Amino acid sequence: MSEKKRLFSGIQPTGNLHLGNYLGAVRNWISLQDDYEAVFCIVDLHAITVAQDPCVLRQSILDVARVYLAAGIDPDRSTIFVQSDVGAHAELCWVLNTVARMGDMEKMTQFKDKSDKEGSERSSVGLFDYPVLMAADILLYDTEVVPVGDDQRQHVELTRTLARRFNKQFGETFVVPRADIRSDGMRIMGLDDPTKKMSKSAASEYNYISLTDTSDIVRKKIMKAVTDSEPSISYDQNRPGVKNLIDIYSLLDGKSADEIVRQYDGKGFGDFKKGLAHVVVDFLLPLQDRMAAISDDDVCTILERGAQRAGAIASEKYSHVKKRMGLGNDNNLNK
Ligand code: AMP
Ligand code: TRP
Repeated sequence: MSEKKRLFSGIQPTGNLHLGNYLGAVRNWISLQDDYEAVFCIVDLHAITVAQDPCVLRQSILDVARVYLAAGIDPDRSTIFVQSDVGAHAELCWVLNTVARMGDMEKMTQFKDKSDKEGSERSSVGLFDYPVLMAADILLYDTEVVPVGDDQRQHVELTRTLARRFNKQFGETFVVPRADIRSDGMRIMGLDDPTKKMSKSAASEYNYISLTDTSDIVRKKIMKAVTDSEPSISYDQNRPGVKNLIDIYSLLDGKSADEIVRQYDGKGFGDFKKGLAHVVVDFLLPLQDRMAAISDDDVCTILERGAQRAGAIASEKYSHVKKRMGLGNDNNLNK
């Protein structure tokens, strides 16, 4: 058994990952692997809370795994697996549904945002229940740390509430996890609308830079990115478009925002955007080469191994939960 504390995080396989996913999530995971026993999940059961095409979903699962691997997640040290390959996630979700209260769920802002988009009458019950499934993901692994973007803070809070409530009612069972939210790169905003986060589900493809975008597309998207009417470059909360572009530049290039502002002092947006496109392309090309070198077969083998490892931990925890609650008919539970 490893002495390290456990860390769990996941991403939905809903289309190509974008720079926001990378800078807000995956990038932080790479360094955390050294300090934690890390479990990284591809949360396909979360993805189906909104309509998915089965063939596209299948491909997206493999593609997300490929990004994890190409970005530097080491499958020998960390566990990478697909959520639906481990049945205990859905099972514990059901159990936690009986612990969660309507009052907890009605506070969830992401449900409100997502259901407003589709019209709440037409939203799936799964979308409403999404945060409970996420709590099940986290609690099955005695997770101590959950590295996520700022948008997931409320879901981790709910997870803590459910863990504490369960422990109080049925006896100490779950570790109460904490969110690890980085202040830098926590929210990369849309290129076409810097008041909303960069998102795969945005209406326009000019909202995001996909990790699979070609260099030409990256340049086009950056040149079209919304800034404002002031001609100079400055780093200012009141200039969300410019601030977002400087953030992306800084996170990928390692220079501070001040250094970047100084570098473009007296120059216009044309030069700045060309510089940024250069930085983004320089980051993407080697990542894309590494992705191309990982075959579907390799990905499947790694995911199978991951599901076995994760499944062993999860089924033990779920048995413990059943025992605590008096569920099932297993003679071993009477001993
Ligand atoms: P999702 O695409 O919603 O499954 O998100 C996967 C991970 O990426 C989560 O940890 C999110 O918090 C993070 N993430 C998604 N979009 C952004 C964004 N625009 N900026 C920063 N992090 C993001
Ligand atoms: N809801 C998360 C998101 O959209 C994805 C997710 C599902 C997750 N289960 C998780 C993240 C467990 C961390 C831990 O980003």
